[in-house]
Amino acid sequence: MYMTDKWEGEEHFNIKRFKYLEFYVGNAKQIVHFYRSTFGFAPYAYCGPETGVYSHVSYVLKCRKIFFVFTTPIKSSHPASDWLKKHGDGVRDIAFDVEDVDFVYESCMKRGAISNSKPNTSEEDGPFSIASIKTYGDTIHSFIDNSKYKGIWAPKFKKLILPEINTTDSKLVLIDHVVGNVEWDKMDYWREYYENVFGFGTFVRFDDGDISTQYSALKSVVLRSKNWKIKLPINEPAKGLKKSQIEEYLDFNEGAGVQHIAILTDDIITSIANLKNNGVDFLDIPDTYYDDLSKRVGGIDEDIKKLKELNILVDRDEYGYLLQIFTKPLQDRPTLFIEIIQRKGSKGFGQGNFQALFESIEKAQGERGNL
Ligand code: FE2
Repeated sequence: MYMTDKWEGEEHFNIKRFKYLEFYVGNAKQIVHFYRSTFGFAPYAYCGPETGVYSHVSYVLKCRKIFFVFTTPIKSSHPASDWLKKHGDGVRDIAFDVEDVDFVYESCMKRGAISNSKPNTSEEDGPFSIASIKTYGDTIHSFIDNSKYKGIWAPKFKKLILPEINTTDSKLVLIDHVVGNVEWDKMDYWREYYENVFGFGTFVRFDDGDISTQYSALKSVVLRSKNWKIKLPINEPAKGLKKSQIEEYLDFNEGAGVQHIAILTDDIITSIANLKNNGVDFLDIPDTYYDDLSKRVGGIDEDIKKLKELNILVDRDEYGYLLQIFTKPLQDRPTLFIEIIQRKGSKGFGQGNFQALFESIEKAQGERGNL
């Protein structure tokens, strides 16, 4: 394993933060209800036939600094229809907030990016600029500059107003990292793509030997922007005794794509208690995980009994520790899931939890007959 907090990238332009994640889904209207009632998102904006958009609908939901966009095609000719037929519900767009869309797009293209859509600026309600490039699978990165935009969300959107529902606050704050699963032997290809196109630096790397237990194995690299706001781990399958969980993902997703979204909280115990109360289904962790936890991670502020009760995992690196927990897949295909994470100094991703996690994931994988 390799880990460094030294900046080893070469920043070509500033990416301010994750702007939003856009999901292509089969029925946005109903999925919006799920993310409101379980994760505590609030309605924000909408486009569809009522706003002059006749090919698809998009619902924007907000939770503090997190924006999720759920898009459903309402015409078979919309590209999202093909996307859904192949992949099922999942993340289409990991969008970034930038200062100058034209410059960022041209800069990426010069260094070998694959274009998805050229820069376009709408002047209705002030300037709104967007361009996009392709990444692994059928995933894209949009670049957005709406710093002087006066409208709601984007052109053709209106405020989304829905009946109130009862839910407890999940205390979720912002997107910490977004993980992609790529095909066998493609991890380094995409690492180079991010290093070259974005100038990102690699700050964590695990090879075969690091994350292969008696269970299924994976390789992983983590890329980041200079300001640490963007962290993008990329996994590929590795050979193990059993089928890699990454390979199972690739089979069900019919290709590479986003595996999980990690969301940051300042208070994971309250977050998880409330999310469970709202009906979010998390992975079960074997009770034995907690037996020698304090020996593995040393002193922590939280009550281990409480962590065990809520199935929260803990891991430590040289910078501090982190607490994390993973949901079960959020759709019928065992593809995308969400991680809730609280960082207490740690810059890692829970490497030490892989063994405990694998046992739990593989129990579920076994129940589906995919080991
Ligand atoms: Fe993660």
